[in-house]
Amino acid sequence: MNLKKFYNKKKILITGHTGFKGSWLVHWLSRYNVQIMGISLGYDEKLSLFRFINKKKLIDKRFDIANYQKLENNILKFKPDIIYHFAAQALVKKSVTNPLETFSTNIIGTANILSCLNKLNTNTISVIVTSDKCYENLKLLRGYHENDRLGGHDPYSASKASAEIVFSSYFNSILKKNKKIKIATARAGNVIGGGDWSLNRLVPDCVRAWASNNKVKIRSPNSTRPWQHVLEPLSGYIALSYHLKKNKNINGESFNFGPKINEVATVKKVLQLSQKYWKDAKFKIYKEKFFKEDPLLRLNSIKAQKILKWRKILSLDKTVELTMTWYNDFYKNNANVSELLNRDINYFLEQEGNFFND
Ligand SMILES: NC(=O)c1ccc[n+]([C@@H]2O[C@H](COP(=O)([O-])OP(=O)(O)OC[C@H]3O[C@@H](n4cnc5c(N)ncnc54)[C@H](O)[C@@H]3O)[C@@H](O)[C@H]2O)c1
Repeated sequence: MNLKKFYNKKKILITGHTGFKGSWLVHWLSRYNVQIMGISLGYDEKLSLFRFINKKKLIDKRFDIANYQKLENNILKFKPDIIYHFAAQALVKKSVTNPLETFSTNIIGTANILSCLNKLNTNTISVIVTSDKCYENLKLLRGYHENDRLGGHDPYSASKASAEIVFSSYFNSILKKNKKIKIATARAGNVIGGGDWSLNRLVPDCVRAWASNNKVKIRSPNSTRPWQHVLEPLSGYIALSYHLKKNKNINGESFNFGPKINEVATVKKVLQLSQKYWKDAKFKIYKEKFFKEDPLLRLNSIKAQKILKWRKILSLDKTVELTMTWYNDFYKNNANVSELLNRDINYFLEQEGNFFND
């Protein structure tokens, strides 16, 4: 698929554009002839990828997506051709201390986006991003299929499962009748890559400690996660928006985007690989009493492979190499962040078997 052609003269709304995935996507799509509106909360962390990205094509809006009226005013005025809805309280641990904020942003925020969509009288393609954590964790070894049971032990997972149910009800009772709307949800697993500085995520916690020559404390070394480079699910969301335009049969569907079942790896494995690319990376395992993480999560992404022709491109080793090299160049070589982002995007696009071309 030709990205330059697909995005030519498109107006794109990215909610959560200041976050990790949002920043990478704004930077990537700024290569094309587009106009981007971003909607996020009004504050940025001191060290955030957003500070460094290409903002030439961006209209930067800051408000709470739970504020329906403000959201409607902005969306109806901008009239986006494509929406990537990322905005969320995206941290499991924070959801335990701030459940109401998590439910408000992740459930009401999503319902607000869907309501606005129905008021737009223009052709719009939307990708609603939830999470692999929307599935009830039954410790299945086969990997979760899109029609497996939804659920969640912690508020974050419950909010993402709820967002899926809200989506399904909106689609089946309201949006399906609107011929101008093409929409689907996307469920991806844990992402890593340069430029994430969130708290309580494995790679950011590690590089913060390692950059100051500290040992990192690890609480669940044997937890397995479907790790992938941030460009992998982003390419999935792009492929999904492209196919929504072409294939009416996928309207209202959900898609998983993750590594193959045998590619999931433990936290310990990711750390050991990181030690190959970050000299003197040290970690120590400890037990945390009150925070229980679900131990096993695998995604089955066959549907995305078959229908969207999407597949994960980078091996786990390459994913960790790109990530650690990025942070090394940032912390130790004072590299230009925009160039680091371009380097990884170019590398990703050049990979054999990649279905994108510029
Ligand atoms: N990062 C991962 O490993 C991962 C895995 C699976 C799913 N996801 C999902 O992907 C999406 C993006 O994740 P991320 O890692 O970029 O998250 P992030 O925490 O880095 O960014 C979240 C973004 O949402 C915005 N936001 C939060 N609350 C808001 C509100 N009330 N109103 C408006 N904006 C608000 C923030 O300002 C920020 O721009 C989220 O929906 C997340 O749940 C992420």
